[in-house]
Amino acid sequence: MLSEASLAEIARERAKYPPERARSALLAALRIAQAEHGYLPETLVEYVAGLLELPAIQAFEVATFYSMYDLRPVGKYKFCVCGSVSCFLNGSDGILAHLQERLGVGLGETTPDGLFTIAEVECLGACKDAPVMQLGDRYVETLTPESLDVLIGQLRGGRDDVR
Ligand code: FES
Repeated sequence: MLSEASLAEIARERAKYPPERARSALLAALRIAQAEHGYLPETLVEYVAGLLELPAIQAFEVATFYSMYDLRPVGKYKFCVCGSVSCFLNGSDGILAHLQERLGVGLGETTPDGLFTIAEVECLGACKDAPVMQLGDRYVETLTPESLDVLIGQLRGGRDDVR
């Protein structure tokens, strides 16, 4: 279900913890599995739990709690807009509304071309640059509708190195 490289990476994560602390490697193991597969279908969550010799329910508890895990397929670009206090006070609700209008999909939905998914997440820890969103492994800060339009245009044009 996973490549040898992913299995080896999970084994390395597992080895960081004592035998009775397999659960400590769960976050990393799920991240590695998702990185290879694109998202975490139920069978993969169960598989990862099995690798760590944990009950499947423990893996589902983690996979369903954290917004970084996707239990369904998502677009190539997942806009994770922070909706917590600092971002909300600086207009995150307007940012989310603009994204939905611009992309023609609702929260949690993916555009028909498979490019964009919109999600609202909790505080990203970058409050001073609110409103903020996470895009892959980077943050895009001090968002405005105009900056989003530029970013979407660049991403549609194939440039995914844009901040
Ligand atoms: S409130 Fe948005 S990053 Fe903290």
